[in-house]
Order: sequence, then structure tokens, then C-alpha cells
Amino acid sequence: MQAIYPGSFDPFTNGHLDIVERALKVVDRLVIAVLNNTSKKGLLNLEQRIEIIYEVLKKYGDRIEVESFSGLLVDFCQSKNTHVVIRGLRAVSDFDYEHAIFLMNRKMYPDFETLFFMSSSDNSFISSTIVKEVASLGGKVTDQVPEAVNRKLLEIYPDKK
Ligand code: PNS
Repeated sequence: MQAIYPGSFDPFTNGHLDIVERALKVVDRLVIAVLNNTSKKGLLNLEQRIEIIYEVLKKYGDRIEVESFSGLLVDFCQSKNTHVVIRGLRAVSDFDYEHAIFLMNRKMYPDFETLFFMSSSDNSFISSTIVKEVASLGGKVTDQVPEAVNRKLLEIYPDKK
């Protein structure tokens, strides 16, 4: 079975990595769908995000595909003939948002399903937003992001090393 793991991944964190690795124990293949959000200026551009995710997950070979998408997630799912999406849930606070998105997606695509993975406790506080803030202020995020992401963050904020 193939599933889609969508997100902004700006940047990809150890929380995302944990979800990918656990999802790969359940599904055969994952398409990591990186949101091309033109209205929000991210830290990393789309190409950088995609390149880094491929690098971090290269040991999984063709079980992983990384693609960008814009527009509705359900349209992207249909274009990939895939009706299963993976999402991580860190805390109860994620639930309301995820539930609303799930219900709306299902209205638009009745076969749509989401498999939720609970974040492991080490990762339950990590978010891309917090990682960006800490890195930009010179804090260490080596335990929160894969090595390739940390290298890129140090490249962006060189004076804070
Ligand atoms: O990593 P994020 O930012 O939590 O991911 C959110 C994402 C990309 C899954 C969500 O914003 C999304 O699916 N966006 C695509 C637009 C869409 O389909 N919106 C309708 C959902 S109701």
C-alpha cells in the first residue's frame, strides 16, 4: 500500500522522521508531499526542503518519493491514485485542527482516510516553528533535527554557531 505524508516540512524535524519511519512499518511506500505555499515565505525554499528530505531518507530508496504539491491535498491524492494520508499527532492540541481537516477532506473525497501516528514522547514538543526560532537565535537544535537539516540551519545562521 502507498500513502501520502503531507506537510510544510520547513524544516523536516526528528518528529517528522519518527513518523516516516513508523509509517514505513505499516505501508510499503510513502510519497512525502511538500506544500508549495506561495502565500507564506518559509525559511527553506521548496527545492531545498525536497533535497534535504531525500538526503535524510536516502536509505529507504524507492520506498520514498518526495514531491511538491499546491492546491488541495485531496486533488494531489487523487492524482497519485492514493487515498491514505499519514499525519502525526503530538498532543491533544493538534486534534481539533486535524479532525476538521480530515472531515473536510472526506467531504471532498469520500474514500479519503488518514492514519494518525502519535508522536513518541521525545518528539512530542518539536515543531518546525520552534526549531526555526531557536536556530535563528543561536540555540542548539542538534537533538531535534536530522544532521542534514542542522547543517543547513548552520549555513543560514553562520554567525550564531
Ligand atoms: O505541516 P503542516 O503545515 O501542518 O501541514 C498542513 C497541510 C499541508 C497538511 C495542510 O495545510 C494541507 O493539506 N494543505 C493543502 C490545502 C488543502 O487541501 N486544504 C484543505 C484542508 S481542509
